[in-house]
Amino acid sequence: MTQQPSTPAQNSPVTVVGLGPMGLALAAALMDKGHPTTVWNRTPEKARDLVARGARLAPSVADAVAASPLTLVCLKDYAALYEALGPVGGPSAGRALVNLNSGTPKEAHAAASWAAERGVAYLDGAIMVPPPLVGDPGSVFLYSGPREVFDAHRDTLASLGDSRYLGADPGLAVLHNAALLGLMYATMNGFLHATALVGSAGVPAAEFADLAVNRFLPTVVDATLVEQAPNLDAGHYPGDLGTMEMNLNALEHIARTCEERGVYAGQPRLMRDIAARAIADGHGGSNYLAVFEVFRKAAER
Ligand SMILES: NC(=O)c1ccc[n+]([C@@H]2O[C@H](COP(=O)([O-])OP(=O)(O)OC[C@H]3O[C@@H](n4cnc5c(N)ncnc54)[C@H](OP(=O)(O)O)[C@@H]3O)[C@@H](O)[C@H]2O)c1
Repeated sequence: MTQQPSTPAQNSPVTVVGLGPMGLALAAALMDKGHPTTVWNRTPEKARDLVARGARLAPSVADAVAASPLTLVCLKDYAALYEALGPVGGPSAGRALVNLNSGTPKEAHAAASWAAERGVAYLDGAIMVPPPLVGDPGSVFLYSGPREVFDAHRDTLASLGDSRYLGADPGLAVLHNAALLGLMYATMNGFLHATALVGSAGVPAAEFADLAVNRFLPTVVDATLVEQAPNLDAGHYPGDLGTMEMNLNALEHIARTCEERGVYAGQPRLMRDIAARAIADGHGGSNYLAVFEVFRKAAER
């Protein structure tokens, strides 16, 4: 399929397939930026407000995709993509699908093959913000797949936020999505667990949040991770300022404190077990970041 050169972003028509909370936000942001916007949803009633603002509701998904050079698909999952877009196919010059639902890299590869069989230019993507932040220039959107497809539509995609192209492998966007969401859940669980622990002594969450999030995390955790990241690539874990053995001791104290206070101890016990695994693998004298080796070598066990 031949890709047409970028058109001025505001003039470029866009189609949005899928009008859940995220699809509605995508369409609204595009309309705010002046894009002529066509929408389609399995349940067409959800388009009512957008239509009142000037969006065009397509009578069929094939009509919707034909209406614009770029179609953003934002459905529940990959199965919904195949179900909804089954009728769409055949090469159509300059048209591209950007699939923004979440899933796994394998699912993204299968969807890229599915699109290639139909002669449809395809990018996979991931949205790293909640619906109210769509359209904000700082909101990160991740894309992967053929570079020329991204380049042809980058100006239009910029209307949604900060577009990051990750590479030709179509699975990269959802892989980053899984990694970043895993980081988000682990961080939230860490904060919530810590808050429950001090809460066992009546400390208000708001008071603890100021100490933990505004003071402790930026100086002790965030700065260390950015500074130490090159050592992860190099597999270099000097233990001169603190060893894994010392950290195992700290994790043991956290688990025992939870038990004393009647707070869930499963989370610190899991971390203690990971540190113990690293020691069993020969990292007793390494610093704590050597648990990276436990994570990345799981498939070798
Ligand atoms: N909401 C967020 O905060 C957020 C943030 C980042 C990424 N995302 C991702 O964005 C995608 C959409 O999320 P969402 O929040 O808008 O809601 P959602 O509940 O994940 O998806 C709702 C959309 O999927 C459609 N759908 C579901 N099954 C379908 C099928 N078999 N055939 C056709 N359409 C089908 C729904 O159509 P009907 O209206 O007809 O039911 C609706 O348009 C998800 O993959 C989600 O992971 C969401």
